[in-house]
Amino acid sequence: NWNMKNFIADQIDLIRQQVGDKKVLLALSGGVDSSVVAALLLKAIGDQLVCVHVNHGLLRKGEPEQVVEVFQKQLGATLIYVDAADRFLDKLKDVADPEKKRKIIGAEFIRVFEEEARKLDGIDFLAQGTIYPDIVESGTKTAKIVKSHHNVGGLPEDLQFALVEPLKYLFKDEVRACGVELGLPADMVYRQPFPGPGLGVRCLGAITRERLEAVRESDAILREEFAKAGLQGKVWQYFTIVPDIKSVGVRDHARSFEYPVIIRAVNTIDAMTATIEHLDWALIDRITDRIIHEVPGVNRVCYDVTPKPTGTIEWE
Ligand code: XMP
Repeated sequence: NWNMKNFIADQIDLIRQQVGDKKVLLALSGGVDSSVVAALLLKAIGDQLVCVHVNHGLLRKGEPEQVVEVFQKQLGATLIYVDAADRFLDKLKDVADPEKKRKIIGAEFIRVFEEEARKLDGIDFLAQGTIYPDIVESGTKTAKIVKSHHNVGGLPEDLQFALVEPLKYLFKDEVRACGVELGLPADMVYRQPFPGPGLGVRCLGAITRERLEAVRESDAILREEFAKAGLQGKVWQYFTIVPDIKSVGVRDHARSFEYPVIIRAVNTIDAMTATIEHLDWALIDRITDRIIHEVPGVNRVCYDVTPKPTGTIEWE
C-alpha cells in the first residue's frame, strides 16, 4: 500500500541503486522542492550529496540564513554557500524590462552554479526538485534551474550529468507531506510560492539597492504581521512591491519625497486566476504603521485590490 513512509523507503533504495558510491550535486534554493530533495538524498546517501546554495541577493529576509542553519548546521549536509548578490546586482544595473531582468537572473544563476560545479571533482549526478506538475506543465511558472524549457536555459554541453529526480511523480501536497515526514521545519515545507527571480520582479523597473532593501524589509514585516494574525498558510501568496516612483508626503513636520510600498495578498487554485484576500482594516493599519516607520525611504502604503485577470499576481 502507498503511504509516505513507504514512498521514502522505496526512494532511498532507488537512489542508492542509481547513485552507488558516486557524488550528486544539487542546487538548493531553499524552496519546498529542492529542500525536500536535499533531505531525502541526505537520508539516502549522506555526504555523497553536495548542495550549492546560490544567494542571488534577491531572496527574502532570513532565507539564506535558514538554508545554512537547517541543512548545514542541523542536518549536517555538505553545503557550498555562494554569496553572489553583488554579481547579480551589477548585471541587473539599469535594466528595467521585466523579461530582460528574468533572463539575466536565470542566466547568471546558471553561470554561478556552473562555476561551482566545475570546481568540484568526481560529480556524476545532478539532483533536481522536479515534481509532477513541472512535467505536465501547469500554469505556474515554476523555474527549475537546469530545465532548459523554462525561462532559464541549461548547463553547457560539456557539463552534463545524469539526473536524480525522486519527486517527479509527486504533487505539491505530497512533496510537502514528504518534507514533514523527513523532519523539515513546517515554515520551510508550507511556505508560500516564491518566484525564481525573487524580489527582483518586486523591485519594479531598474533595481536599486535602496528599493530592494525596502522590498525585503516591508515583505518581512508583512509576513510577520500575517503570521501574528493567523493568516500564514491561509492566504495563498502575499508580498510587497516597491515601484520606481516617489510621492510627496510629510515626516517630522517636513516635506518628504519617498517611495510607496504596495501590498498584494491573493488566493488562487492554480495561479491562472486569483482573487484578493479581504484583509481586515485593523491589520492593514498595523502593517502600514510598521512599514512607514521601520522601512527607510518609504512614506506611503497602498493595497492592490485587483483580481487576476486583469492584474497578474506579480507586478512584473
Ligand atoms: P503571475 O504574476 O503570472 O504569477 O500571475 C503566477 C505565479 O507564478 C509565480 N511567478 C514566477 N515563478 N519564475 C517563477 O518561478 C517567474 O519568473 C515567475 N513569475 C511569476 C508568481 O509568484 C505566482 O505564484
